[in-house]
Amino acid sequence: MNTVYLNGEFLPAEEAKVSVFDRGFLFGDSVYEVIPFYQGVGFRLQAHLDRLNHSLRAVRIKNEQHWEEILESLVARNGGGNLSVYLQVTRGSAGKRSHAYDDSLEPTVFACCTPIKDVWKAGVDSVVPLKAIVTEDLRWHRCDIKSTCLLPNILVLQQAKDEGAQEALFSRNDKLTEGSACNLFLVKRGVIYTPKRSSEILGGITRELILELADKHAIQFQEVDIDYQQLLVADEVWVSSSTRGIVPVIEVDGHKIGKGQSGPVWHKMFELFADFQRKLMTGL
Ligand code: PDD
Repeated sequence: MNTVYLNGEFLPAEEAKVSVFDRGFLFGDSVYEVIPFYQGVGFRLQAHLDRLNHSLRAVRIKNEQHWEEILESLVARNGGGNLSVYLQVTRGSAGKRSHAYDDSLEPTVFACCTPIKDVWKAGVDSVVPLKAIVTEDLRWHRCDIKSTCLLPNILVLQQAKDEGAQEALFSRNDKLTEGSACNLFLVKRGVIYTPKRSSEILGGITRELILELADKHAIQFQEVDIDYQQLLVADEVWVSSSTRGIVPVIEVDGHKIGKGQSGPVWHKMFELFADFQRKLMTGL
């Protein structure tokens, strides 16, 4: 059942091989997407493909694939259930190591699936609140590109784990940006705040949906700069991503956030989010 896609072929994972000269392997010269599918149907698929196109264009990797066809076929071959699809496109291999690249390289395209839970069935009790640390954002200045150069993200997450937390939040020039693999929200007196979109954060698809739902249901929100102090005195802090949904953060750097448990605005947003997914998937 573990079928992957590699350069035009669907094959068992253990048979998929990439050259040691692939630029994704040698330089992290590649971009990626993580796209949830529920009951075989892509969730906000077009938004993910738009972001993929943005990333590919930004790093000048050739983009001539029929993404939808490839992804839907891969999901079907893996049982068509609730899966998150990882899609990576590298600049390809020139059969040697050289920083300079040739525009004629054929990109390497790889995709695989991992099971995920559907939020509306799993319910609110399935969500485990997190503890987070705040750490310096040492990433480059094009975090809007979903690049596979994730060493800073990996190291800060490990640092969080070493300190008994489960997530790391980045801070650049005294402004919070996002988490190691998630966007950041806080709530103060019923208003939702999140850092504005810029090249310092990834334009999260889940983030966008949260703001859409807030707008539709008359929950006030603002896209603003957030500093460390504002984070610590927030009533609620959440993080969001396609694989984890919306998750409350109940402690930052050992300081309790709000009452130290998931808050009422998070509960409301979780229900709106779950309801949105359920309606989309079941039509009910
Ligand atoms: N990451 N910010 C960063 C740095 C991320 O890596 C992600 C997602 C997000 C949230 O984006 P979205 O809502 O579109 O998933 C924000 C994926 C899940 C990953 O790297 O596995």
